[in-house]
Amino acid sequence: MPDDVSLNQFLDFLRFGSISTDSKYKEQILGCASWLKQKLTVIGLTAVQHETPGHPIILAHGPKKEGRPTVLIYGHYDVQPVDPLDLWHRPPFNPGIENGIITARGASDNKGQIFAHILGIEQTLKETGDLPVNLILLIEGEEEIGSPNLAAFLDSHREELACDVVAISDSSMIAPGHATFTYGLRGLTAVEVTLTGPDHDLHSGIFGGAVENPVTVLARLIAGLHDRNLKVKLDGFYDDVKPLEPWERRAWKHLPLQDVQLLKMTGAPALNGERGFSSLERVWARPTAEVNGFGGGYQGEGTKTVLPSKATAKFTFRLVPNQDPQKISEMVQDYFRRNVPPSVRIDVVPGHSGTPYLVDPNAGYGMAAQKALGHLFPGQKPALVREGGSIPIVADFKSILNADTLLLGFALPDCNAHSPNETFPLAHLDLGAKLNRFLLEEIAAR
Ligand code: BES
Ligand code: MN
Repeated sequence: MPDDVSLNQFLDFLRFGSISTDSKYKEQILGCASWLKQKLTVIGLTAVQHETPGHPIILAHGPKKEGRPTVLIYGHYDVQPVDPLDLWHRPPFNPGIENGIITARGASDNKGQIFAHILGIEQTLKETGDLPVNLILLIEGEEEIGSPNLAAFLDSHREELACDVVAISDSSMIAPGHATFTYGLRGLTAVEVTLTGPDHDLHSGIFGGAVENPVTVLARLIAGLHDRNLKVKLDGFYDDVKPLEPWERRAWKHLPLQDVQLLKMTGAPALNGERGFSSLERVWARPTAEVNGFGGGYQGEGTKTVLPSKATAKFTFRLVPNQDPQKISEMVQDYFRRNVPPSVRIDVVPGHSGTPYLVDPNAGYGMAAQKALGHLFPGQKPALVREGGSIPIVADFKSILNADTLLLGFALPDCNAHSPNETFPLAHLDLGAKLNRFLLEEIAAR
């Protein structure tokens, strides 16, 4: 268990409502950033807060020595919104611990995981006055909104950020106590569509039947995104999709995360997805079209006979190697503009994008990562997995800094990231601190 001081600091970290997407939380974002800078300074790193057009970046360096590798550890202090608030068992920014489980927004994604790294670094510095590698710690406040300002920062700080490898703990373990090494992430591209029919809400008895309902039109457009086999029905959508390797299909069948577990975790009455693929294959290696929000018209109690003026929907398309987010974004915008009837006006606004990522888990520093996991879970061979989530900056670490990324997450798959009642096991603070120490040692030893 972490000592009381560290635990209390972690709880302080969780108390900041650092929601990046909502400007009402700007002060909490700023408070969180300066708290982090202070914490990193106190443990002995040189920490600087960099302003961006959006939220600040905290950048810290360890002691530098010639001839040893430079490792960049990346994480984020921003979190997702907390709604629906009434489903939380406790206020999302008033963390509590029950049976060794911490509940708070950001507990796993990503405050717990990045704080565990900080604890590992703190311990090593305290014991040895040094670290086994040259360390760069980069913690941003805009990951959950697609890192709009980070790539430019990488570009303008190439020299300061030059590194041999990047390490990130912002993904999950396949199951509790199960060593997991992630070698792939999906990318994504977001788009928002607004349809406007009449220029104000109408009486549906007086006008319904003569004026087309924008909610119905949007529902039709949404339904047109998939065919009967639940494949995405956009021309060319799958053209660049890299097929699964036979070894991946074989190995994933035996992982302890199959339909039984997915059913239990999600509470869905049944699973469903693209024909011809298992659930893990669908999530980790196949692209999707998701509606993240859809609305229009009367949402209050009872009935209201209204023909709404507007309908909106928010979409994200999860992408896999080697799909190009820009190309898919244009394809999607085109689909909506081409298929909308003349009875409504359409406004299509593209959102943020992230490129998918895939790396050979056994090349480069991959074996150092696998060895570190082997020390953490003696006797285990790490599960080699991909993940369905996205960390958009990972592709930029490669293209801008020419560094591969080791994804060593230790959140649990049922941690409720982005959902009400997000959790993180208290024991994973120590687990992550140990992982940090093994990892830096193994990278130094390579
Ligand atoms: N930690 C997640 C990414 C993740 C989730 C990796 C699950 C592996 C497994 C990250 O904080 C996240 O949620 N990213 C967003 C990015 C988006 C908003 C641009 C995501 O995937 O939705
Ligand atoms: Mn997240």
